[in-house]
Amino acid sequence: MTTINFSTGKFPFKDLIRDYLGVTSLSFIHLQEGFCYLDKFERINDQSTHFHKLFYDLARTPEFTILYLEFIKNVIKPLFGEEVVFQKVPTFRLHFPGNIAVGEFHRDREYRDLAWARRVNEFNFFLPITDAFRTNTIWAESEEGKEDFNPINAEYGQIVMWDGSNLLHGNKINEEACTRVSFDFRVMPFSRYEPSEKGSINMNSKFGLDGYYDKI
Ligand SMILES: [Fe+2]
Repeated sequence: MTTINFSTGKFPFKDLIRDYLGVTSLSFIHLQEGFCYLDKFERINDQSTHFHKLFYDLARTPEFTILYLEFIKNVIKPLFGEEVVFQKVPTFRLHFPGNIAVGEFHRDREYRDLAWARRVNEFNFFLPITDAFRTNTIWAESEEGKEDFNPINAEYGQIVMWDGSNLLHGNKINEEACTRVSFDFRVMPFSRYEPSEKGSINMNSKFGLDGYYDKI
């Protein structure tokens, strides 16, 4: 697990997301007037709020797309030292107090073609927009099969590179006062890339360069 610092002045994801979602504080988005989400998230509805929809609308705007591409090019790609294949639209997470952000403990490879996932050597990148700590962040094992879960603590301005494909991970009920807002995406070295016909659960797009991924 590696934590990388980046300039929030150069890559102001927080301002962009907060403004587009139309809220004054992302940490207290659950206190926004008219907010109502009492159901505990499950796999089927953990991408279902009005705010998720707004984020994915934002992700299609030139403003976000250009910023995200610049980020991949300048912060992520140098970590690999070669061309990279990256998740075209990052996945948005809201971890409300009293709730979870992701519906089940899992290894990301479980949602893929298993043999393919092992071959491509994909990494996860976790970018918290609000501070992520204790019960409002991801809990992950340190080695495959160990199940010694610990929180992935990080703050805005940091991005965590880790092996979400193979390490079991999930959420606890958020017992903090604030919502964790984050996005995450997957990246692999182009030299390991090969297309897969299986689709992504969340975005219903194929795991190929014409769907879920892009190359830079
Ligand atoms: Fe995951």
